[in-house]
Amino acid sequence: MSTKKISLTGIKPTGTPHLGNYLGAIKPALEMANSGDFEGYYFIADYHSLITVHKPETLKEYIYEVAATWLALGLDPKKITLYQQSHVPEIMELNWILSCFTAKGLMNRAHAYKAMIQDNEERKKDLDHGVNMGLYTYPVLMAADILFINSNVVPVGADQVQHIEIARDIANAFNHVYGEVFTLPEAKVQEGELVPGLDGRKMSKSYDNYIPLFLPEKKLKKLINKIKTDSTEPSVPKDPEDSIIFDFYKLFATEEQIADLAAWYRRGIGWGEAKLELFNVMNDHLKGPREIYNELMADKSKIDKILEEGAARVRPKAQEILKEVKKSIGVL
Ligand code: ADP
Ligand code: TRP
Repeated sequence: MSTKKISLTGIKPTGTPHLGNYLGAIKPALEMANSGDFEGYYFIADYHSLITVHKPETLKEYIYEVAATWLALGLDPKKITLYQQSHVPEIMELNWILSCFTAKGLMNRAHAYKAMIQDNEERKKDLDHGVNMGLYTYPVLMAADILFINSNVVPVGADQVQHIEIARDIANAFNHVYGEVFTLPEAKVQEGELVPGLDGRKMSKSYDNYIPLFLPEKKLKKLINKIKTDSTEPSVPKDPEDSIIFDFYKLFATEEQIADLAAWYRRGIGWGEAKLELFNVMNDHLKGPREIYNELMADKSKIDKILEEGAARVRPKAQEILKEVKKSIGVL
C-alpha cells in the first residue's frame, strides 16, 4: 500500500468553471498531485450543489462540466482518482456520525450561513429565510468529504480555509472521545492574489464578472473586448500595474512577454492592441484544453466511465475507514 500523503479537493458543480477556479484551485491541486509526492483524490461535490441547484438537467450538465474541466486541464485519471461525491455513499454515513460530534455553535459561525443571515437582516427578512439544512450543515458534509479517507492536505482557495478548520475541529472532537481515529487535515492555499473579474472585483460566478474557461474563441475575444478601459489615446504612456488587462496577461504570459508588454504600455499602447495581446496569450494557453473539453462534452460516456472507475477505486478505502469508525462508536 502507498505511504504517500493524500491530497484531496472538491469542486461544487454550481456553474461553468471560470479562470478564477482554474488558477486559484484546479491548477495548484493538479501541480500538487502531479509532483508525485501525493496520492490525489479529486471529486465533484454534487450533493453540496443540491443546496442551491434544483433543476435536474442543470445539475447533471454542471457535473459533466466540472469533470470535463478537470480532465481537460490535465488530470490523468490513472494517477489521480476522480469521482463524484454522490457515488460514494460511505461519505453520507460518515456525515451523520460526524454531525453528532459537531457543536451547533460551530455551524452558526460558518461563513456561508452567516453571510445569508446577515443579508436577511439587511433586507429586513426573517433571519432564516432561504436557509435550508443543507446550507446550515454544509461544513459537516465537507468534513465527511475530507475525513472519509483520512486526507492529509486539502488544496483550496482562501475562502475555504474556515471549512478545513471546522473539519479539523470535528475530527478532534471525535478523536477526543475514541482515540486517534481521524487524521487532522491541513489546508493548502494558493499564494498570491485572487483572480480579478472583468469589473476588477474578485472573479466569481456570483458577480457575473467571470471568464468561463472554455469559451469558443470568438466569444472569448468578444468578452475580452468588453473589459472596461478609459478613453486615453493610444499614444499616451500607460501604467501597466494599473490595468486589469495587464493583470490578466500576467497570469498567462512568460516573463519575457510580460516585460515586452509592460514596455509597450509605457511607450503608449492602444487599448484594442492590449486586448488583442491578451486574447492571443490566453487563447494559446487554453486552445489545447478547450479541444479536449469539447470532445469530452460531445461524448459523455468517457466521463461516465472515468467517474465509475474513480468511485470503484475510492470506495474500498472508504469502507475500511468507516468500519474502523463504526467499531469505535460501538455499532459494529
Ligand atoms: P465562485 O466564487 O465562482 O462561486 P467557488 O466558490 O465555486 O467559486 O470556488 C471553487 C474554488 O475556486 C475554490 O477553491 C475557490 O477558492 C476558488 N476560486 C474561486 N474564485 C476565485 C478567484 N477569483 N481567484 C482565485 N480562486 C478562486
Ligand atoms: N466547499 C468547496 C467550495 O465551495 C467545495 C468542497 C466540497 C470541497 N467538499 C470539499 C473542497 C472538500 C475541498 C474538500 O469550493
